[in-house]
Amino acid sequence: MTAIDRVHVPLGDRAYDVVIGRGLLAQAGALIEPLLQRKQMAIVTETRVAGLHLDAVQAGLGAAGIASTALALAPGEATKGWAGLTEAVEGLLDAKVERRDIVLALGGGVIGDLAGFAAAILRRGVRFVQVPTSLLAQVDSSVGGKTGINTRHGKNLVGAFHQPALVLADIDLLDTLPARDFLAGYGEVVKYGLLGDAAFFDWLEANGPALAKGDRDLRHYAVRRSVEMKAGIVSRDETEQGERALLNLGHTFCHALEAATGYSDRLLHGEGVAIGCALAFDLSARMGLCAQETPSRVRAHLRAMGMATELADIPGDLPGAAALIDLMGQDKKVQDGQLRFILARGIGAAFVCDAVPMEALRSVLEDGLALQG
Ligand code: GLY
Repeated sequence: MTAIDRVHVPLGDRAYDVVIGRGLLAQAGALIEPLLQRKQMAIVTETRVAGLHLDAVQAGLGAAGIASTALALAPGEATKGWAGLTEAVEGLLDAKVERRDIVLALGGGVIGDLAGFAAAILRRGVRFVQVPTSLLAQVDSSVGGKTGINTRHGKNLVGAFHQPALVLADIDLLDTLPARDFLAGYGEVVKYGLLGDAAFFDWLEANGPALAKGDRDLRHYAVRRSVEMKAGIVSRDETEQGERALLNLGHTFCHALEAATGYSDRLLHGEGVAIGCALAFDLSARMGLCAQETPSRVRAHLRAMGMATELADIPGDLPGAAALIDLMGQDKKVQDGQLRFILARGIGAAFVCDAVPMEALRSVLEDGLALQG
């Protein structure tokens, strides 16, 4: 069995560890206890995750003498809005959370972002611990301190940078994920190889299928390598003034596709990231930045994993290229009216580009849309 790993996120007085391993829920109390001022925690979770893991978390805390209350919200992206934020904040105040207490976020990206933001504003800021239960949350959203909610204007438009005090990524929890959710999270794993670590992409090509089937040692390595990469980038650029933008590889396309599909289960975020990464390599090849065969290699791996790679793989109709480009213009990464893309000179060699010719973008989208049945 693989040992427990600790990846440190060196952010001065906001530094913390991401603990990665198996059986971490049972050890949650022992791992969190050194951070606590009093042996009392409030857990924010959602009902589906609560049914699977809440008892184990509370037992793990109890083993170290930590009492806990739990607030279980409705599952799903709709919870990550003003009403869900009110429910979380009022619930934490009902639970008498004090300024020096620590909130525990138990769930996927929705709960981590929401509970983290609630913690950021509760009593002008309390600390929180992330216990991510999805692959996407373990490799991406639980690390780096982006917290927030969606508004009617778009996703993640209200929020705060608020770093967790600790992240516990328990590999065993990935066993309870539906296959579709696991693969969607894998979209974010592949992203790390594509943006900055060609050797990791080679490793994923060799090991991805076995990892998806359930090999826990391979899952552990993939989570650790992803977290190491994220921790490195976040520690160099916490508030996304530069390098952190590379983590948005595939996301300008993805956000337009999520908007075009109404943020519905026609397209999960990680599925949009995977298709967006393939399109980002198409665009890079079209602009002569990377070899013409590189997009095919990216797609071949995603297909070997059983993932969608094309606009045509998204069920239902999509709007035309012009409408998709319009939706990209709503993205919060737009600066001075310029669309911002993460492009690549090859696998593992991404960079920020604010000067994409519209014609190249339109033709990449038109070619993709033409494949629709
Ligand atoms: N998910 C992208 C970031 O944390 O910057």
